[in-house]
Amino acid sequence: MLDILPAINEYCVNHSSSFDKILSEIEKTTYQKTTSPHMLSGQLQGSLLSMISKMKSPEYILEIGTFTGYSAICLVQGLKSSGKLVTIDNNPETNYIADAFFKKHHQNGKIELMEGDAKKIIPTLNYVFDLVFIDADKESYMDYFDLVIDKCNNGALILADNVLWSGKIIDENKDKKTKLLDDFNKKIHADARVENIILPIRDGINLIRKI
Ligand SMILES: C[S@@+](CC[C@H](N)C(=O)[O-])C[C@H]1O[C@@H](n2cnc3c(N)ncnc32)[C@H](O)[C@@H]1O
Repeated sequence: MLDILPAINEYCVNHSSSFDKILSEIEKTTYQKTTSPHMLSGQLQGSLLSMISKMKSPEYILEIGTFTGYSAICLVQGLKSSGKLVTIDNNPETNYIADAFFKKHHQNGKIELMEGDAKKIIPTLNYVFDLVFIDADKESYMDYFDLVIDKCNNGALILADNVLWSGKIIDENKDKKTKLLDDFNKKIHADARVENIILPIRDGINLIRKI
């Protein structure tokens, strides 16, 4: 995560709209039952995802990296009533938790959780997406972008999480994962099919719009 003053973060949370009660439940369960609870989007980023989804009002949303379902519940807030959110994760243990929350939130009809390797599943999807959230293995971000760009409407938004990688992105000697994230940001910046802005929120979000 980026180094912002905890007091500033707290101020932002306290002065932003409150969120769905189920998200606190997901957060609590994630801390109790998983070994990497920090992977969850959290309140401020979750509220941003929810706000973007409400502004976009998408028909089809794709999420790559479900984990315990926190960000999916945020993203689904703006979904058109006729629409669907497809979320993919290859971890059956956390999928079990997410699925229980989707059912509890009465979203099981609107959210389709697909289990397996996202690189294999995405090519099989026959939807045109308006909103995509890339938040799985960082090494594959470029592949995910390449797999989804032609499955997106013009004007679609693609959000990629963790693109500043705790600030390591500006290190001179980058480790392998950081280098791949830097390559991803460079690739997006050079791609004439899209425009983008990197938001220094939480761990950095690359907000990309297909032109
Ligand atoms: C950072 S977590 C997602 C967090 C979630 N979006 C949220 O904000 O609550 C990343 C997830 O990607 C999943 N993942 C990693 N590699 C994957 C792959 N190749 N295919 C599908 N899922 C993958 C992991 O199992 C993990 O649950």
